[in-house]
Amino acid sequence: MKINIAIIVSFLFLAHFGAAQPGVLDISKFGGAPNSDISQAFTTAWNEACASTTAVKIMIPDGTYKLNSIDVKGPCKAPIEVQVDGTIQAPVNQDEIKGADQWVKFMYVDQLTLSGKGVFDGQGTEVWKAKTGGPAWSGKGPMSKVFMNFGFNFLNNTVIRDITSKDSKNFQVMVFSCNNITFDGFTITAPKDSPNTDGIHMGKSTDVKILNSNIGTGDDCISVGDGTKNLTVQNVKCGPGHGISIGSLGKIETEENVEGVLVKNCTLTETDNGVRVKTWPNEPATLTISDLNFEDITMVNVKNPVIIDQEYCPWNQCNKQNPSKIKITKVSFKNIQGTSGTEEGVVLICSAGVPCDGVELNNVDLTFNGAPTVAKCSNVTPTVVGKAPACQAPGAAPAAAPAA
Ligand SMILES: *[C@@H]1O[C@H](CO)[C@@H](O)[C@H](O)[C@H]1NC(C)=O
Ligand SMILES: *[C@@H]1O[C@H](CO)[C@@H](O)[C@H](O)[C@H]1NC(C)=O
Ligand SMILES: *[C@@H]1O[C@H](CO)[C@@H](O)[C@H](O)[C@H]1NC(C)=O
Ligand SMILES: *[C@@H]1O[C@H](CO)[C@@H](O)[C@H](O)[C@H]1NC(C)=O
Repeated sequence: MKINIAIIVSFLFLAHFGAAQPGVLDISKFGGAPNSDISQAFTTAWNEACASTTAVKIMIPDGTYKLNSIDVKGPCKAPIEVQVDGTIQAPVNQDEIKGADQWVKFMYVDQLTLSGKGVFDGQGTEVWKAKTGGPAWSGKGPMSKVFMNFGFNFLNNTVIRDITSKDSKNFQVMVFSCNNITFDGFTITAPKDSPNTDGIHMGKSTDVKILNSNIGTGDDCISVGDGTKNLTVQNVKCGPGHGISIGSLGKIETEENVEGVLVKNCTLTETDNGVRVKTWPNEPATLTISDLNFEDITMVNVKNPVIIDQEYCPWNQCNKQNPSKIKITKVSFKNIQGTSGTEEGVVLICSAGVPCDGVELNNVDLTFNGAPTVAKCSNVTPTVVGKAPACQAPGAAPAAAPAA
């Protein structure tokens, strides 16, 4: 009798707690073995997970796998977690992925979690060589078609935890039209001379959080496109790379406002820019960029640590005749310290057509070769709180051209 009760109790216990555990779909059950291409196995597992009415976890355990591409879509019936602990390798040759611009692509999912100590290796070295004038690239079609490691598109309530994006052929991560997407403990890595390997690029998205992450890559660590609202970047290390950039904006008439950006407790090391806003002159867009807060930032030998550039015109290939039509308002730089790689620690070049307003420099304390840096400003009168360099007109000598 006692035994029977024990069995019943443990049965109830398992039934109760077992039900709360997500179902686990190991990739091996779908034929996804290490050292083989798991594209088909993943798609089959995804389809099963997506049809499940209870939470499901897809597991890719330790090991090295090949993946041609993933292009999976919701909506699904319940939350899905994809836990990757292995190393996933992209094809070296762009041609092997027919027409794809994003190698690992998720669309229209609510409550997706991508987690684990896994590495997604875009194997970009050969493509970078071709882009930078090395041995001819065997691929066909324009370079712009070269695929990115990750595409997170039209996702809600999504978390990317741990996980590494490595050596993408193009941008490492694209976030497009997402609501409430968080990167936590994410790592991005590529050499500093790898072309166009922006870390996380986003557009038309709300409530994007990038936390406790480490981004070292060949282009912007984080680049913020139009329609970004409520972005938080906190406890992030950036470098090598081109820094944290808003823009460039202005080229497309239908671009949407950028509002609400908090960058806090970040360190930028040896990057081309620190925190930057850039807009093109002589272009049609009339949007507003507002409520930007850059706070508690350490710069380590950063070339342009604090820069607003509304005459952004790399390689001088554009017409500066007409000023940018983009309004920049309510921007604060607070507790920014460390070392600059140039004398001009602060550059605020605002539009002659729509000057910046509400710009605050609050304890901006940067040095170049041991001496305080200077600030070059036009079409803006920043409020100064605490220590900050006084504005000088850009004058005859133009500000150091920021890197593209
Ligand atoms: C995401 O949220 C938006 C806005 O609430 C909604 O229109 C869309 O259908 C949601 N998408 C998914 C996949 O749940
Ligand atoms: C954002 O998404 C996460 C993960 O699904 C969820 O836990 C959190 O409640 C969401 N936040 C909001 C404000 O909906
Ligand atoms: C932005 O975040 C704040 C605070 O977290 C919230 O109150 C506000 O509704 C958010 N705005 C949008 C557009 O999501
Ligand atoms: C600031 O970020 C670093 C990681 O770069 C982290 O170790 C530290 O705890 C953070 N500090 C605060 C006060 O959050």
